[in-house]
Amino acid sequence: MLSIIKIFAKGNRFLVSTISTLVVSIAMTTGAGAADIAAIYTESCAACHDSGALNAIKKGDSVKWQQLIQQKGMPALISSVKNGMIQMPAGGLCENCSNDDYRKLIEYMSK
Ligand code: HEC
Repeated sequence: MLSIIKIFAKGNRFLVSTISTLVVSIAMTTGAGAADIAAIYTESCAACHDSGALNAIKKGDSVKWQQLIQQKGMPALISSVKNGMIQMPAGGLCENCSNDDYRKLIEYMSK
């Protein structure tokens, strides 16, 4: 006797629980942290300061950076970036950078 086994394929219904999107809010007021500075550098300043394009002082050329920081002083360098220079666009391609961010970026490049 052949028994026909009927397999009722029941569609398994997985209850997909909706995972609420975790919104990481970036605290703008506290300024950029070390990881952010590296990211901002890569997005904005690296275009010229990584390769030394247009004669920009290279990141990591600490001798030249230290000389410049001593000669002009940090506040002057920050305003150079903000106002732009001969070849450097105003803001150095960073639209949301604060003075403090620029200072950290310059220190980051000078190491
Ligand atoms: C489009 C290329 C370019 C980008 C992008 C750029 N720079 Fe520059 N930067 C230069 C060049 C070129 C110089 C050398 C001065 C000149 O010829 O304009 C310079 C000079 C500087 C100086 C020296 C200023 C002085 O008074 O001597 C600082 C500080 C500086 N850059 C910081 C930054 C920072 C911080 C960023 C990113 C937020 C940035 N730069 C992005 C091209 C660039």
